[in-house]
Amino acid sequence: MKVYVASEKEIAKMAAQRYVQLINTKPNAIIGGATGSTPIPLYKELAKQCKAGNVSFKNVKSFNLDEYVGLDGNHNQSYRYFMNKQLFNHIDIDINNTFVPSGIDTKNPSRYDDMIKAAGGVDLQLLGIGVDGHIGFNEPGTKFDSLTHVVKLEQNTREVNSRFFKSINDVPTHAVTMGIKTVMNARSIILIATGKNKAKIVKEFIEGPVTTKCPASILQLHPFVEVYLDEEAASLLKK
Ligand code: PGA
Repeated sequence: MKVYVASEKEIAKMAAQRYVQLINTKPNAIIGGATGSTPIPLYKELAKQCKAGNVSFKNVKSFNLDEYVGLDGNHNQSYRYFMNKQLFNHIDIDINNTFVPSGIDTKNPSRYDDMIKAAGGVDLQLLGIGVDGHIGFNEPGTKFDSLTHVVKLEQNTREVNSRFFKSINDVPTHAVTMGIKTVMNARSIILIATGKNKAKIVKEFIEGPVTTKCPASILQLHPFVEVYLDEEAASLLKK
């Protein structure tokens, strides 16, 4: 695992360069998207790079990590809506090549894994991290060998996400998420974490034991993970 620490702006630029390098080497690369506040500076930077002609997403496919159950793509809090607004509408990707796990048969969610596999597998998966160590919606206790599945959201996660809804009652109770194995199947992974509230969990997932209590800790076992942190998120790491 490689860890980079710089300002929020700088890490967005550094991470964007990884995409530029990958896609310029492999124009039909498969990327894995993430939502939340953390990736927004990176998505802005990707849009900038695309507009400047430094990278083209024309032949790229994208598979997102997760989606709320019960929100369709037009709902302004659905992750489909988020991805269109924050990234897809600003780059030259074919929207038909962008996938979120919505409308997935919730009785057979691992069909999403089959779709990813059929497309060739994810080359570069982007992750944020929750204050409880979740990746996607894989909350503490999720099995490391899980494929795409439906989860009941923890109260804490619903509370954290309620800032985007009118009230906590409007936050869906379930989501579909890539499993931990789905994430680990990606050929390379970038995790970004920013802000003081992530410092404790960042230390735990990088320096602590590999345990399902901290789902992100499994990344210690992946052969190609880059972690991009701002100074605040990195503040508790051993120097
Ligand atoms: P955030 O979410 O980027 O909004 O902090 C990250 C996550 O919960 O995975």
